[in-house]
Amino acid sequence: MPTPITPPTLPPAPDTLVCGQVTLRFVELVPGDAEEDLVPSYHFRILLTDGTDVGHINFLIGDTGHIRNCAGHIGFAIHEAHRGHGYARLACQAIARFVRTIYDDVLITCNPDNHASRRTIERLGAEFIDEVNVSAADAHENPQARRKRRYRWTP
Ligand SMILES: CC(C)(COP(=O)(O)OP(=O)(O)OC[C@H]1O[C@@H](n2cnc3c(N)ncnc32)[C@H](O)[C@@H]1OP(=O)(O)O)[C@@H](O)C(=O)NCCC(=O)NCCS
Repeated sequence: MPTPITPPTLPPAPDTLVCGQVTLRFVELVPGDAEEDLVPSYHFRILLTDGTDVGHINFLIGDTGHIRNCAGHIGFAIHEAHRGHGYARLACQAIARFVRTIYDDVLITCNPDNHASRRTIERLGAEFIDEVNVSAADAHENPQARRKRRYRWTP
């Protein structure tokens, strides 16, 4: 049996998180699993005003080595067909109000060669901390994820 590590005190996700054309729809709070070194994470779909689903954003709650050195607290992706409109940045701005209820600031990371992600994070106003090596285990054996740029974002 996996050990759930969702603290009972985690708040419910708000019904409405909006920025510009982007609305976040809460999907689930996935409990952590201490044995797998997984922390709890809130999952949201990123929708446009007309309901089109353009991607997802996740908010991870925890302070493990994997969060600090690899994953960060915020993860996002936009479907290829909908890239090029800055929706990931709008999604981060939409989730900011909720993030603030849990953390004063969070870590966001990206692979150094992920220019769209880098630009998204930098345009949010996040502060560059450093670039670190990531262990093969933390990178889930993905060679492209063996280095990460780390940023501190005050939402
Ligand atoms: C990262 C990602 C979410 C960004 O999607 P998006 O919101 O559509 O981002 P955009 O394509 O609008 O690009 C955002 C910015 O990066 C810039 N950019 C995009 N590709 C670039 C490139 N190859 N080189 C330099 N800048 C680039 C854009 O010009 C834009 O800059 P601007 O704000 O000054 O206009 C998307 O590329 C993606 O899903 N990638 C795969 C998953 C991923 O890498 N997630 C991030 C993990 S942290």
